[in-house]
Amino acid sequence: MTTQNPSFHPQTPPPRLTPYAPPARWLHWLTAAAVLFVIPAGIAMMNLPQGAAQDRLFDLHRSVGILILVLAVLRVAVRVALGAPPPAPGLPRWQHVVASATHHLLYVLIVVMPLLGWATSSTYGAQVSVFGLFTLPALLAKNEPLSDLLGAIHQVLGFAMAALVGLHIAAALFHGIVKRDGVLSRMIPALSRR
Ligand code: HEM
Ligand code: HEM
Repeated sequence: MTTQNPSFHPQTPPPRLTPYAPPARWLHWLTAAAVLFVIPAGIAMMNLPQGAAQDRLFDLHRSVGILILVLAVLRVAVRVALGAPPPAPGLPRWQHVVASATHHLLYVLIVVMPLLGWATSSTYGAQVSVFGLFTLPALLAKNEPLSDLLGAIHQVLGFAMAALVGLHIAAALFHGIVKRDGVLSRMIPALSRR
C-alpha cells in the first residue's frame, strides 16, 4: 500500500484552516487598530509640552481607550458565544501554549488598561470626555497620590502590552510569511482564497 498523503507534496499550497467567525474577525481588527493607535498616542502625549496639542491628544487617547473597553466587552461575549476554531493541526504544543497565554493576557489587558486609565484620570480630577460626545462619571474620588500610583501601573502595563503586541504580531507574520501554514488566514480568510 502506498502512502499518498497530498500534504507531503512540496507544491501543496498552505492548508485552509477553519477561520474565526466574522464577528470575531471584525472585532479583532477594530481592537487591533485602536490598540496600535492608543499605545504610541499615550507615549507621544507624555512627551509633548503642556498645551492645547497635549490636551487634544489626551482626550483622543482616553476616547479611543474607552472604545477599546467597549470592543473588549463585545469580544469576550462573542468569544464565549461562538468559541474559537480548533487549534492549528501540527502546531508544536509549546507554540500552542505560548499563543494561548498571549491571547488570554491580551484579553485581560484590553479590559484592565482602559479601567486603570479611567481610574487614573478620575483620581487626578480630570474628566473623561468620549469623543466630545459625553462625559463619563468619575470612577473614583479625587486623590492625587493614588492617581500617581495608578498612572505608574498604567504606564508599566502599557509598555508590557506593547511588548506582548509586538510578539503577537511577529508570530502572526512568521506564520503568514515564513511558515505559510494557514494560521494568519484564520484572521484574514481572503489570504487563503487566492
Ligand atoms: C497587525 C496586527 C495583528 C495581526 C497580524 C494579528 C493576527 C492574529 C491572528 C492571525 C490571530 C489568530 C491566531 C490563531 O489562530 O491562533 C490573532 C488572534 C488574536 N489576536 Fe491578533 N493580530 C494583530 C493585532 C492584535 C492586537 C493589537 C491585539 C490586542 C488586543 C490582538 C489580540 C488578539 C487576540 C486576543 C487573539 C485571540 C483571539 C481568540 O482566540 O479569541 N491582536 N491575531
Ligand atoms: C488599552 C487601552 C490603553 C492603553 C494600551 C494605554 C496605554 C498608555 C500608555 C502607553 C501611556 C503612556 C505611558 C507613559 O509614557 O508614561 C498611557 C498614559 C496614560 N493613559 Fe492610557 N492607555 C489606554 C487606555 C486609557 C484610558 C481609557 C484612559 C482614560 C480614560 C487612559 C488614560 C491615560 C492617562 C491619564 C495617562 C497618563 C498617565 C500618567 O500620568 O502617568 N488610558 N496610556
